[in-house]
Amino acid sequence: MKKVILTGDRPTGRMHLGHYFGSLKNRVKLQDEYDTYILIADVQALTDNFEHPEKIRSNIREIALDYLAAGINPDKTHILIQSKIPEIAEMTVYLSNLVTVSRLFRNPTTKAEVAQKKHIFGNEGESITYGFLGYPVSQSADLTCFDCDICPVGDDQAPHLEQAREIVRKFNSIYGPTLKEPQTVLSTTPRIKGLDGNEKMGKSLGNAIYLADDEEAITKKIMGAITDTNKIKKDDPADPEKCMVYYYHKLIDNPNLATVCQECQKGSRGCVACKKELIKVMLEFLKPIQEKRHYYEQHPELVDKILNDGTQKARKKAQEVMKRVRKNMQIDYDFIDK
Ligand code: TRP
Repeated sequence: MKKVILTGDRPTGRMHLGHYFGSLKNRVKLQDEYDTYILIADVQALTDNFEHPEKIRSNIREIALDYLAAGINPDKTHILIQSKIPEIAEMTVYLSNLVTVSRLFRNPTTKAEVAQKKHIFGNEGESITYGFLGYPVSQSADLTCFDCDICPVGDDQAPHLEQAREIVRKFNSIYGPTLKEPQTVLSTTPRIKGLDGNEKMGKSLGNAIYLADDEEAITKKIMGAITDTNKIKKDDPADPEKCMVYYYHKLIDNPNLATVCQECQKGSRGCVACKKELIKVMLEFLKPIQEKRHYYEQHPELVDKILNDGTQKARKKAQEVMKRVRKNMQIDYDFIDK
């Protein structure tokens, strides 16, 4: 039996190169070896977007297109929509008894998000909802509903995985061995920096290249990228390590990288020419991804089917697990559950 991998994303926007190098590329590799589930976490996304359901709705399809474009193969991977698996919601309720409110407040990722909300909304940020505080519990349900063995994620998700393991241990100690403890495999790719030199590429930071960006958008973004600030004139020598354009040449594996580096150091390469070369290489890099995306955009019925099949298969698995859970929790009332 293959081991189970489960990962997921909140459908709050299209995916960018940070997602591609940070997780998608790895998922494409892992799907050959593991029984892979990728969850489109619409319920989780609603915890802090409940006033904008239209945003979540429209991004479910976008994110599915990005998965397929990046090489997720629906014959190997189940792509599932969280809200369409009510067993996850049921599991969340049972697991919520096994975690204290103070423990949830101590979750470092939740803490950071609370601080950010305060920063953005001022005092309003202090009105943390029950749903938002509890989303690591719903994430624990995501993992346990599919008997997940391994969860490959970025380091910001590690606290949720730790919390999930605690909950599983508590569950099993009370109700007997029932749930699987998911192991975290942290992404080995360092966080992808933004074109502005920011340590993180992010939607809200406005410094991202999206997998679906067209030539015009890419040109504009790359032409505005930060270069070595000590280089004033076109033929000043510069330090490629201080330049985001070089960082991206390296990231997408420009075969001409050694020349880019030497010419930059010598001062025989101006930044404009260097950016133009990056635009060209970037478009080539994105071409196969965008061709695939375009194909699926033209065949929406195929995407519907993939989401439907993935969700249904996943639901079967969750139903099996829930049966076990109800039995061990002694809530399998057979006078009703005939
Ligand atoms: N919290 C994750 C994120 O924001 C998304 C997610 C939801 C997830 N459920 C999951 C990731 C289960 C891994 C496993 O990116």
